[in-house]
Amino acid sequence: MLGKKVVMAISGIVLFGFVLTHMLGNLKLYQGAEKLNAYAEWLREMGAPVLPHEGALWLLRIGLIVAVVAHVAAAYQVTRISQRARPTDYKSRRVLQATYASRTVRWGGVIILLFVIYHLAHLTWGSVHPDFIYGDVYSNVVSGFKVWWVSAFYIVANLALGLHLYHGLWSMLQTLGVTASGERDWRRTAAAAFAVVVTLGNVSFPLSVLTGVVG
Ligand code: HEM
Repeated sequence: MLGKKVVMAISGIVLFGFVLTHMLGNLKLYQGAEKLNAYAEWLREMGAPVLPHEGALWLLRIGLIVAVVAHVAAAYQVTRISQRARPTDYKSRRVLQATYASRTVRWGGVIILLFVIYHLAHLTWGSVHPDFIYGDVYSNVVSGFKVWWVSAFYIVANLALGLHLYHGLWSMLQTLGVTASGERDWRRTAAAAFAVVVTLGNVSFPLSVLTGVVG
């Protein structure tokens, strides 16, 4: 069980590193089309001329795919083990010691997975984006978020991601043996701070398009 939690924690660090950098990179939306599109182009040219076009990007993608598979597989196994440990349902489902974030972490994970599949089809492949222009990331983001229900879905999914990060980061610190003493548990504060930064950044993108701040 502990081994699986370590797999969750380590793959979680990789995934958290990705969502944080992805959010920071997307802030280029506020610098305009030229800057955001140049950044997207740079992602594809990283490592040139030693590596081929998209070479470094593909190395990062492979790392990301490995982390996602490890994270989901370990989550599935941890869930199965806790279900088997308690084959009959509880008489009372009253929760004694748990936060809202910890009780929703599994469903949160499922929502995030579905969101990522939609998100790739929307902004990377363009297959579900009616106005997709290959190579014009700025225009794809702006025309994509002008559709209110697309923005609404992004906002809901990113709030779910925020709760997931909060619980995940805090669990990770526990698994890796980081302890805290004193009245205030700084691990909760740190987990909350990181989750809030990522979430505020991410929900700001659809909101700024909907309100006309970007566009
Ligand atoms: C409102 C928030 C977000 C915005 C505006 C956004 C925007 C984008 C855009 C524009 C792309 C395509 C980039 C390109 O073609 O160069 C992209 C790719 C991607 N996004 Fe997001 N994203 C957001 C949130 C997320 C979240 C929360 C996740 C994961 C949980 C995520 C995962 C990915 C992945 C895996 C890719 C594909 C990267 C690749 O391999 O090329 N995104 N995103």
